[in-house]
Amino acid sequence: MQAIFFNKADEICKIQETQVPEPGNNEVLIKIKAAALNRRDFWIKKGIYQGAKFPCIIGSDGAGIVEKVGENIDKDWINKAVIINPGMSWGEDPDAHGPDFHILGLPTQGTFAQYVCVPAESIWYKPDTWTFEKAAALPLAALTAYRALFTRGDLRRGQKVFITGAGGGVAVYLIQFAVAAGAKVFVSSSSEKKIKKAITLGAEGGVFYNEPGWEKELEKISDGKFDIIIDSAAGANFEKFPGLLKTGGKIVIFGGTAGKIPEMTAAKIFWKQASILGTTMGSKEDFKNMLDFVEKHNIEPVIDKIFPMVDAELAFKQMENHEQFGKLVIKITDGY
Ligand SMILES: NC(=O)c1ccc[n+]([C@@H]2O[C@H](COP(=O)([O-])OP(=O)(O)OC[C@H]3O[C@@H](n4cnc5c(N)ncnc54)[C@H](OP(=O)(O)O)[C@@H]3O)[C@@H](O)[C@H]2O)c1
Repeated sequence: MQAIFFNKADEICKIQETQVPEPGNNEVLIKIKAAALNRRDFWIKKGIYQGAKFPCIIGSDGAGIVEKVGENIDKDWINKAVIINPGMSWGEDPDAHGPDFHILGLPTQGTFAQYVCVPAESIWYKPDTWTFEKAAALPLAALTAYRALFTRGDLRRGQKVFITGAGGGVAVYLIQFAVAAGAKVFVSSSSEKKIKKAITLGAEGGVFYNEPGWEKELEKISDGKFDIIIDSAAGANFEKFPGLLKTGGKIVIFGGTAGKIPEMTAAKIFWKQASILGTTMGSKEDFKNMLDFVEKHNIEPVIDKIFPMVDAELAFKQMENHEQFGKLVIKITDGY
């Protein structure tokens, strides 16, 4: 099979021939039709993701067709179109993942290849009306967004939500899901074009997170404080978040794109009765609820661009330059 191989850190994407993997007893072999990028893939490629090891075939998002099943798996799965939940071995506790939790694409082989083996418990039927590209654009980012907003954030209709970094793969789902749930959504971004796109998705307005005084501008355009702030950047701006919350409000955080959180005065948090909630991807139940939510609300993933496998390096470059709005998809095999 062909796969995008990285033999060492910071190498450009190279397509190499390698052996098709054999499914274990509880696994299925999937012929990947489409995959998608997440920032995790970019950091592994750079060699700066914790536990990054080379050579490797990465990729967490994928959708395709079951080609073969392991000894313990129902043969009815063969030839079925499926979507993969990349959160492996979450465990039994819906509140937090267990010690065996890992993400498809490191340490195990990922989806940037024509075939991948995954546990049968990680696959879900792809609805017939969804293209493989749509299905591949969902898993990691939409799962993270779903859990952040609903399972952790407990978002209610009519609440006011501030979503940082509107152009990010997860952020676009956060906007779409929050709008679909009846929330009033405001965003931040580095780009006017991306704020405008967020508004076309139903956001009410946005501010530039790089501009001094952005927090005052946000309060002005949104007419007051927020019930929930969902952030994946952290960095210096985090210190402003408690001041933007209503009393009893929540900050839900799932990433640190902009670096460390600076020192903060404790009173800003306790005097607000504020909650700061960490979240990472989601449980099996979150994944199922996310798929149901996407179907029920007819959510169309925002795909910035679909690249053929040979142009995967261009997709990584686009992510490096923060050029995308939504997901970057890689078409792996043609012919559905
Ligand atoms: N814990 C988890 O389960 C989980 C899951 C997925 C992702 N993550 C993490 O979450 C982050 C986003 O992931 P992604 O896949 O959505 O990445 P992405 O598609 O590469 O998006 C990153 C976005 O971050 C925004 N950004 C950059 N600097 C910012 C700042 N100072 N303030 C606010 N926003 C800023 C940019 O928004 P604009 O383009 O609008 O300027 C950019 O588009 C990454 O750190 C990733 O590792 C964590």
